[in-house]
Amino acid sequence: MSSDRAFLQAEILKLKKQKRAIILSHNYQRDEVQDIADFVGDSLELSRTAATIDCDVIVFAGVNFMAESASILSPDKMVLLTEIDAVCPMADMIRVDSPRPVRKHFPGFDTPPSFVYPPEFTLRAIKNRYPKVPVVTYVNTTADVKAESDICCTSANVVKVIESLPDERVICIPDKNLALWAARNTKKEVIAWDGFCHVHERVTPEDVKKARTERPEALLMAHPECRLEILLMADHVTSTSGMLRFANSSSAKEFIVGTEIGLLYRLRKENSDKVFYPLRKDMICPNMKKTTLKSVFRALKENNYLIKVPEEIRVPAKKALDRMLEIK
Ligand code: 13P
Ligand code: SF4
Repeated sequence: MSSDRAFLQAEILKLKKQKRAIILSHNYQRDEVQDIADFVGDSLELSRTAATIDCDVIVFAGVNFMAESASILSPDKMVLLTEIDAVCPMADMIRVDSPRPVRKHFPGFDTPPSFVYPPEFTLRAIKNRYPKVPVVTYVNTTADVKAESDICCTSANVVKVIESLPDERVICIPDKNLALWAARNTKKEVIAWDGFCHVHERVTPEDVKKARTERPEALLMAHPECRLEILLMADHVTSTSGMLRFANSSSAKEFIVGTEIGLLYRLRKENSDKVFYPLRKDMICPNMKKTTLKSVFRALKENNYLIKVPEEIRVPAKKALDRMLEIK
């Protein structure tokens, strides 16, 4: 281990103790960031932890909507996001009032470079078009979008959330792939939005065929942010932590991993007798990778970057998150 890394680790542990801080890390974070964290998990586990944990400071190694959710759920704690420009482009694909440009060009992603939604495509507009239809909002959204929603969901619980509602029709925003997957698994009608995750959307059926040919014994796990045609080819579709549970309990020895490659670190660490292959080596979320050990250290030392959601947004957004967290 380099002396630089050892120094940073020691300083982080010291500051954490002094400040009664807890470090939460998403499963896609860099290996060394996961190693220094108190808790590593998927979005649902991290939200549950942020809502209940006993500490004064939460340092969030992830992307902005995750730290926002922590601030919404734990307003009395100081919530710090390790890198202020660690954003989720999918969360940017829906706005409450003004339309957002979507289909930006991402390297390795082959849809047309730019497409702008017409002005009527806002959350407000879709709610007006379908009055009384409840809005189920993926946690990968900004706090003001959550505040306008009936209930939140994650990749781990989207079907349960939709089934928990009395309505026969729901609006599911912003990830079209998650919405289409949910629609396959419920009898209810799901109105989808046209958002997507550029990391998962790039996977093609050819990638799956190639991986299956190269690793004929391996089971394919896919994240519901992949396109529906990919999900229908998978052996198991689940959230990042769902993949960990599936791999832990499966008797199979080889797995193709259809999600961001950061998850491979935990999969390998917790299953040394099994082998894991990325579905595509370029499934890398640049925003998740912005956080380094240095960012964690700076966050703790300088109280950067403070995330605080204004009360008028926090209170209704918390209702939508709490309603989700009540579902077991
Ligand atoms: P999980 O909740 O499955 O960890 O996914 C979060 C995410 O951002 C997926 O791209
Ligand atoms: Fe957003 Fe995709 Fe990155 Fe997850 S992997 S944070 S959905 S861009």
